[in-house]
Amino acid sequence: MSNPVSLSRDSDIGVIRINYPPVNALGHGVREGLQQCLRDALADEQIRAVVVIGEGKTFPAGADIHEFGKPPQQPALPTVIDEYEASDKLVVAAIHGTALGGGLEVALGCDYRVALDSARLGLPEVKLGLLPGAGGTQRLPRLVGAQKALEMVVGGNPVKAKEALSLGLVDEMVSGDLLDGALAYTRQLLADNAPLRKLRDLAVPDAQDGLFDQFEQSIARKQRGFKAPFSCIKAVKAAVELPFDKGVERERELFFELLVSPESAAQRHVFFAEREVAKVPGLDKNTPKREINQVAVIGAGTMGGGIAMNFANAGIPVRLLEVKEDALERGVAVIRKNYENTAKKGRITDEQVEQRMALIQPTLSYDDLSDVDLVIEAVFENMDVKETVFSELDRVCKPGAILATNTSTLDVDRIASFTGRPEDVMGMHFFSPANVMKLLENVRGEKTSDEVVATVMDLSRRIGKVGVLVGVCHGFVGNRMLHRRQAEAVQLVNEGASPQQVDKVLFDLGFPMGPFAMSDLAGMDVGYRIREELRKEDPANGPARNWTDELVEAGRLAGVFDYKDGDRTPVPSTAVDGIIEQYRSNNGITPREISDQEILERCMYVMVNEGAKILEEGIAARPLDVDVIWIYGYGFPVYRGGVLFWADQVGVKAIFEKVNEIYQQTGSDVWKPAKLLSDLAEQGKGFYSK
Ligand SMILES: NC(=O)c1ccc[n+]([C@@H]2O[C@H](COP(=O)([O-])OP(=O)(O)OC[C@H]3O[C@@H](n4cnc5c(N)ncnc54)[C@H](O)[C@@H]3O)[C@@H](O)[C@H]2O)c1
Repeated sequence: MSNPVSLSRDSDIGVIRINYPPVNALGHGVREGLQQCLRDALADEQIRAVVVIGEGKTFPAGADIHEFGKPPQQPALPTVIDEYEASDKLVVAAIHGTALGGGLEVALGCDYRVALDSARLGLPEVKLGLLPGAGGTQRLPRLVGAQKALEMVVGGNPVKAKEALSLGLVDEMVSGDLLDGALAYTRQLLADNAPLRKLRDLAVPDAQDGLFDQFEQSIARKQRGFKAPFSCIKAVKAAVELPFDKGVERERELFFELLVSPESAAQRHVFFAEREVAKVPGLDKNTPKREINQVAVIGAGTMGGGIAMNFANAGIPVRLLEVKEDALERGVAVIRKNYENTAKKGRITDEQVEQRMALIQPTLSYDDLSDVDLVIEAVFENMDVKETVFSELDRVCKPGAILATNTSTLDVDRIASFTGRPEDVMGMHFFSPANVMKLLENVRGEKTSDEVVATVMDLSRRIGKVGVLVGVCHGFVGNRMLHRRQAEAVQLVNEGASPQQVDKVLFDLGFPMGPFAMSDLAGMDVGYRIREELRKEDPANGPARNWTDELVEAGRLAGVFDYKDGDRTPVPSTAVDGIIEQYRSNNGITPREISDQEILERCMYVMVNEGAKILEEGIAARPLDVDVIWIYGYGFPVYRGGVLFWADQVGVKAIFEKVNEIYQQTGSDVWKPAKLLSDLAEQGKGFYSK
């Protein structure tokens, strides 16, 4: 490959250009080129100052992700940046696009920074469980102060050029041609005899007392379990408390600690998995996609309303159909209220509320659906109702329209069979609240065509979702695994654990809430009705009765815990303890002491085993699909990488042995080890080992 960095001259100014598409990432060749070109520029007597600029769409947008996990190649980025900072000729960074991570650190090694008005600058390393390890945490506070540096380094979000200018992060903002602007600015600096400006020599502006402790407290809840945000705080603190070189040493130390941490490994895994999940194995990436310009949603209830909002948010018009006027009005009013609340929080403008509402077109007539490209059905969870709706859709929709169902528990193939075009039918399983949750399980039916799959996967991204392709089975991937865990949680309480003990163990693992707080949120009656349905269908093999049935029958719809008004903090209930005790004594159960470790193993390993079965059956194509589902659908902690990534860290062999042991004890099918699990254990492999 030709040299990705070149030096040219514009009269007395050297111009170092980085040309390494697509984002001028700071790979080995770029680092070497940057170093060499600077040395050449310094040696060239005709050059009085240097401008560094990116070709194409951006200033370097970060490290080269292809180098992750490989042995480091010299020169390292900090070395290159130090050389820029040590230059005795003025160096000016000319920034457009996104100067992120190492890119911004390069800019901070320069004397001055000029940015195009559309540029964005940031240090997003924290999102990969890392911190800026090339001096960024030491130089940034010297320029913008500790408070703002904390916000940028710990938050990881970029700032726009205009804000960067007001912060002093950039010295000049230009519009039009960046290079012209940067050259003019540099000439002005030379004409003014402007001094070199080495950030390392600047003092950090005074920080307010107690800043670091306060900042740490302010993120403690949201960042629970993550390591990097707290290391970022320590690094910025070092910039305030230590001389520059010592601060850099501390930054490096903290950086390497994070680099080898399981938290960062997990976060990087999630970062790649989220991108990988969009690529469906076996689906040709040139598969034609259908155009989706007009959508319809059937049912304006809890899910339908949220689903419609996703399309309106993405600027795609959506017809919302109900059979009854009052249900339609109610549904539309809920959507409006939702948008107005968002506007009250300042996240969208009043004008945007109206624009989005205008994209949602309520209707009571199926005839209005004749021209739509995609329909998503979100009516009652009942096969007869689904049959009515899909027969109607088959009658009115144009050929080529995609007919999707949001069902959680019904058979998508059966639903497809209600139409004369099963190849156009698939599941789009949104999670509640549908306008918030990022996960979308796209369910491929037996007859769904490649074109429909490709279109729906692409559309998921367009509406801001993480779409994961799954196959047809009860509960698909996420809920199927969840049901195993929930049943185990109930069983543990049968045997002697308290609901709060079970919840605490899973909360401490990093879940946003425990199994019982979660079922309370969904409504205890939902699970009860499903179990009753199954018991009616198959009295011999239906789910065994348990203490939660007694709870619902005793009229405790509040759930397992008590809650104060407007507060979702679960409070243990003595009434529920009484029901549980009664249940145990009625069923001759002598409660035993159950350890936290047993709770963890039983609740988690049962999911790992089910995940392995799901892979074996081809319901999910890869472990990463399962992991992405758990991260985006159920709040599984990102710093643990997903259920199966976590399993690898625990050790698949140990998990298999425990699963097998419980299977031997209970004989329960649920605990029968998946073949994949036993194969991996036998080969000493994990889900992710090659
Ligand atoms: N609630 C959840 O957490 C959740 C999550 C994922 C999927 N789902 C699935 O989404 C679907 C809808 O669930 P929901 O919670 O929104 O239910 P819901 O009861 O809140 O809403 C259903 C809506 O459909 C309307 N409706 C019923 N029959 C209709 C018909 N023939 N034509 C048009 N509209 C009709 C009802 O008036 C109601 O407004 C179900 O299939 C459910 O399994 C629900």
